[in-house]
Amino acid sequence: MAEGAQPVRHRVTLRPSGLSFLASGEADLLTAAHQAGIAVPSACRNGVCELCEALLIGGRALNNRTHALVPNAGRLMLCRTQAAGHLELEIEAVMAVGEITPRKFQAKVAEVKSISHDVYRVELQLPRRRELTFHAGQYLSVVLPEADPCYFSIASSPRAEKLELHIQATPDWVSAQRVIDALRSGRPVTLELPHGRACLAAAPEKPLLMVAAGTGFAQMKSMVDYLRETGSDQPVRLFWGVRRHEDMYLRSLAQRWEEEWPEFTFVPVVGDSEDNDWSGHHDQLVRTVLASGDDWSNVRVMASGSPTMVYTLMDALVAAGLPEAEFHSDVLEYAPRNTPQNPA
Ligand code: FES
Repeated sequence: MAEGAQPVRHRVTLRPSGLSFLASGEADLLTAAHQAGIAVPSACRNGVCELCEALLIGGRALNNRTHALVPNAGRLMLCRTQAAGHLELEIEAVMAVGEITPRKFQAKVAEVKSISHDVYRVELQLPRRRELTFHAGQYLSVVLPEADPCYFSIASSPRAEKLELHIQATPDWVSAQRVIDALRSGRPVTLELPHGRACLAAAPEKPLLMVAAGTGFAQMKSMVDYLRETGSDQPVRLFWGVRRHEDMYLRSLAQRWEEEWPEFTFVPVVGDSEDNDWSGHHDQLVRTVLASGDDWSNVRVMASGSPTMVYTLMDALVAAGLPEAEFHSDVLEYAPRNTPQNPA
């Protein structure tokens, strides 16, 4: 390859998930998939454990040890294969968004720590962590006896050893306080996960705009941790809106991301500190996002907050040119519009 020339990259499409990534002719396919943030089961990285096995459906692939071409419909190990052109592979173990069936897990509580006047940071440890797969940005439910499940975003990345939650609770908020009391009891807790379609099964190939209100920050943290781990080179901008300064419970963490990660921009949006009941901070958050003047035709948006904020933001961005399919929020699933609770 001539000095300074860019290596040729080939598109590798995985079936049936439909996820795809770009691979140069030099790196093995397992490394390239992991760099794209796609969770392919693997252990040995040496062609032995067969966890990364796939079938070649189309294209030219080379065994990187023997340099022989893999025959069409032949088995291959991603860790032992290089792309010699665009590829189509069948690999059932790779899950797209919405394909991971929620399951119940018992978790030990590793830590419950107050990190602001009303937010707790919780760490949970699963005895068989390797059995759990989820995508960055998904959520879980805490299942307590004789109580409705309580739902919380997972704040940690899918590769982290422990699950992290940010739980907002005050003594008069009965259901959340009950969860905190249960977690503080020291007894194991039952979780059900993963839930949610507003998540990342692969690193995006376009700029990402994150908009969070209050503890919606937790969902964004999971995705930021994941993108930093995968070395994503796409720009990421986070708008975090809160009512009062003291509600921005991990502001220093978001500022540190901005210092450490050149692709990341943090925009804090703080409402009226004089009036705790003022609800205009949601409008202020939406106005601030719109004023950023992004190219709305080429961005993916992830939003987390109240249905009012999310739908106001979605309408404004779609009117400004965002394709509706690029707007993602769990609100669209659990609080769909045109219902008696959420009229259009
Ligand atoms: S990771 Fe073991 S065979 Fe590929």
